[in-house]
Amino acid sequence: MAFERVARLDALPAGRGLRVTLQGIEVGLFRVGDDVYAMENACPHAGLPLSEGSLEGCVVTCTAHGWRFDVRTGHPPEDADGFPIPCFAVRVEDDAVWVDLDAPTNRRGRGA
Ligand code: FES
Repeated sequence: MAFERVARLDALPAGRGLRVTLQGIEVGLFRVGDDVYAMENACPHAGLPLSEGSLEGCVVTCTAHGWRFDVRTGHPPEDADGFPIPCFAVRVEDDAVWVDLDAPTNRRGRGA
């Protein structure tokens, strides 16, 4: 597979994520400064969409019960040894965000 265009860069809100669906998989896009990160959108606690959580810096906090994840790694910020949420390669080009689901950026990404 290859990078697929999933959103306009200016559609990404500040302080939250943006939910997109790619090949039937729901992905949250998170903007941190000039960078964008893509992470599977289901919170591992009870499955709520992390894109609706509160994003501060590189950490998103789930609205339901407060679990926190670093959107750059998929790990809780205080526990880099557990199982991360799958994260995927992102490219920003021509004011658009592109994601490649077959280019995982952590060991639980698809195809890892
Ligand atoms: S569903 Fe995310 S913390 Fe409970």
